[in-house]
Amino acid sequence: MRSKKVGGLVIAIDGPSGVGKTTVSGLVAKKLHLKYINTGSMYRALALAASDAGLDLEDDEALKEFCSTVNLDYEAGSGRIFVNGREYTDGVRSQKAGELASIISTRKIVRDFLVECQRTLGDGGSVVMEGRDIGTVVFPNADIKFFLDASHEIRTRRRHHELAEAGKPAPAEVGSEIKERDRRDMERSISPLKMAGDAIRIDTTEIGIEEVVETILKEIDARLKRGDIGS
Ligand code: DC
Repeated sequence: MRSKKVGGLVIAIDGPSGVGKTTVSGLVAKKLHLKYINTGSMYRALALAASDAGLDLEDDEALKEFCSTVNLDYEAGSGRIFVNGREYTDGVRSQKAGELASIISTRKIVRDFLVECQRTLGDGGSVVMEGRDIGTVVFPNADIKFFLDASHEIRTRRRHHELAEAGKPAPAEVGSEIKERDRRDMERSISPLKMAGDAIRIDTTEIGIEEVVETILKEIDARLKRGDIGS
């Protein structure tokens, strides 16, 4: 019997804003010694760079031209991100970056460009990739897919906490902003946020980060033992 290894796996983790994907995905990758790729930070960095260049984020012609000249560097180990040599690692965490990313991510030209970058980064496996469409579009054949969800109230609380930790106490409207992001993510015509049919849904409303990570690791381990995944 061949040994079942975790190396080489593609693990997709999707879900809405504020659900805790980033923390969970980073911890899972660390535990399993896999590369961690945060695709949200790519939409965020590209949106900031396009905005810095004075672009209208809904002008498809301008975005097409922009994407054709963009060199996006994402360092999977450190999470550092550069657009045309300029670093956006700190900038991507801001509320403004989230808002701009939510707009630019509705544009097909941008999605096509970034999905290609993400496939290149994940090619060869050994990766935990986090986003909205990883299990449905970027890697529909991922070895294992998780979809994290939680109530609107708890996601608002987590996002508020995150923004406060980043030194920017969130305004009271953080809840309505999450609602607006959910609407954009779910209603956009291209790759809307939805759970892949073969994803494992984890409701994180009532459980903490460690428990979510534990649930994910147990499921991966069970599948490896059964020989469903792994080489
Ligand atoms: O996960 P996040 O909050 O960093 O994502 C920022 C925005 O980017 C969010 O509004 C949705 C979008 N996004 C996306 O459309 N597809 C992805 N794979 C990742 C993020």
